[in-house]
Amino acid sequence: MARNGGNKVDHAAKKHTGLLKLVQMLSYLVVYVSCSILGLATGSLVNRYITLQGQLFFTDNNKSSTTSCHNCTILKPSDQGAVSSSMELSFRRKSLTHSMNDEQLFWTASLVPYKEEYPFDRVPKVAFMFLTRGPLPLLPLWERFFMGYEKLYSIYVHPHPKYKMKVSKDSPFYGRQIPSQEVKWGHMSAIDAEKRLLANALLDFSNEWFVLLSESCIPVYKFTKTYAYLIRSEYSFVESFDELSFDGRGRYFHQMLPEIQPHQWRKGSQWFAIQRDLAIYIVSETKYHSVFKKLCYEELFCLPEEHYIPTYLSMFHGSLIANRTLTLADWSVYSSHPTKYGRFNVTESLINSIRNNGTLCSYNSDMMNLCYLFARKFAPSALKPLLKIAAKIMQY
Ligand SMILES: *[C@@H]1O[C@H](CO)[C@@H](O)[C@H](O)[C@H]1NC(C)=O
Ligand SMILES: *[C@@H]1O[C@H](CO)[C@@H](O)[C@H](O)[C@H]1NC(C)=O
Ligand SMILES: *[C@@H]1O[C@H](CO)[C@@H](O)[C@H](O)[C@H]1NC(C)=O
Ligand SMILES: *[C@@H]1O[C@H](CO)[C@@H](O)[C@H](O)[C@H]1NC(C)=O
Ligand SMILES: *[C@@H]1O[C@H](CO)[C@@H](O)[C@H](O)[C@H]1NC(C)=O
Repeated sequence: MARNGGNKVDHAAKKHTGLLKLVQMLSYLVVYVSCSILGLATGSLVNRYITLQGQLFFTDNNKSSTTSCHNCTILKPSDQGAVSSSMELSFRRKSLTHSMNDEQLFWTASLVPYKEEYPFDRVPKVAFMFLTRGPLPLLPLWERFFMGYEKLYSIYVHPHPKYKMKVSKDSPFYGRQIPSQEVKWGHMSAIDAEKRLLANALLDFSNEWFVLLSESCIPVYKFTKTYAYLIRSEYSFVESFDELSFDGRGRYFHQMLPEIQPHQWRKGSQWFAIQRDLAIYIVSETKYHSVFKKLCYEELFCLPEEHYIPTYLSMFHGSLIANRTLTLADWSVYSSHPTKYGRFNVTESLINSIRNNGTLCSYNSDMMNLCYLFARKFAPSALKPLLKIAAKIMQY
């Protein structure tokens, strides 16, 4: 008891010093930034605050003002360009290069502007985040889906760190690979990769929706319909349910007490589509993350990718989620993986049944027969037949 109390005080003291340090750092940086950008017409504190993020972390090249300025209270005239370009970068970043580690990245991504109006014309975008092992075999299909809507989406790809994505310069996927790390199935590294995708996408203030996809996913409706369905939804799409089976509560471990009670344990598809607020909660969460990280190795079969986000969100933000996924997978054959469709399986009727099989689902306060925007798993060999029927069936 005494030890616990002591720990608490210790923790509070640490937190306090941390806060002081943060305040100190912020005031230093605000002074620095306001001195250095004197003469640049920036309006609000938020602008400057975001600029300092650019100064701190968004060093896109070796010539950035932080490395070229030896005494960092003075900014040389030639560096002023660097300030304004990094400001632009931090609002609507075009380049994905940065030198932040995960801790710095997640912190930066968790910043929320206090000022409500944006200092630029903000058209909400959907971030399409691909968690892949290597290549994207269905890339030509996605390129068709995206064509013509450049202002309404952004793409992020997290492959194996050794894989270098090669796409032509005119592809919307060009330059969209983010700094990645290795992902192991059934391991928290999968969640970390999802957080890395979310955090990189959060750095672009125009991104409003965040959709997680794999290399075997396809879009089953055209872009405008997909975009409207997401933007008009009041709820984020995260599947989260309680199941008393071996594959549900069976993956709960009592070592998760006291943080997670058995009745709080949830299961759900890894493939989510969430709004900005939830994305920020997820990149900022550390308490439950460390409970999973401590326990979920290969030996302990707790599959974080199917449980961590559904459990955490249902515990604290349950009222914001629709409790269903937008990505259809066929689990009707009992196996550890859903049905995979290859060249001979792709037919008009298969895609039509994915688009609408007569089942209704809730959308805001209505019931609708449009339940899934995406489907998996499609093998590389499915590309050809998919391209053949895309215009007629999927309308893109
Ligand atoms: C930046 O410049 C320094 C010194 O000139 C060099 O050692 C370093 O490798 C450069 N870093 C990058 C990422 O180019
Ligand atoms: C920076 O400038 C201050 C005041 O001009 C000076 O005292 C200090 O030594 C300088 N620091 C470096 C690292 O050059
Ligand atoms: C999803 O489930 C939670 C309970 O975990 C509930 O509070 C929430 O209202 C549900 N969402 C919808 C859209 O019904
Ligand atoms: C896909 O096609 C192959 C070859 O015709 C067949 O063996 C398999 O059962 C089909 N799978 C599904 C899910 O229809
Ligand atoms: C339609 O799809 C849903 C979701 O996969 C499934 O539960 C349902 O049984 C299907 N209905 C029909 C009529 O095939």
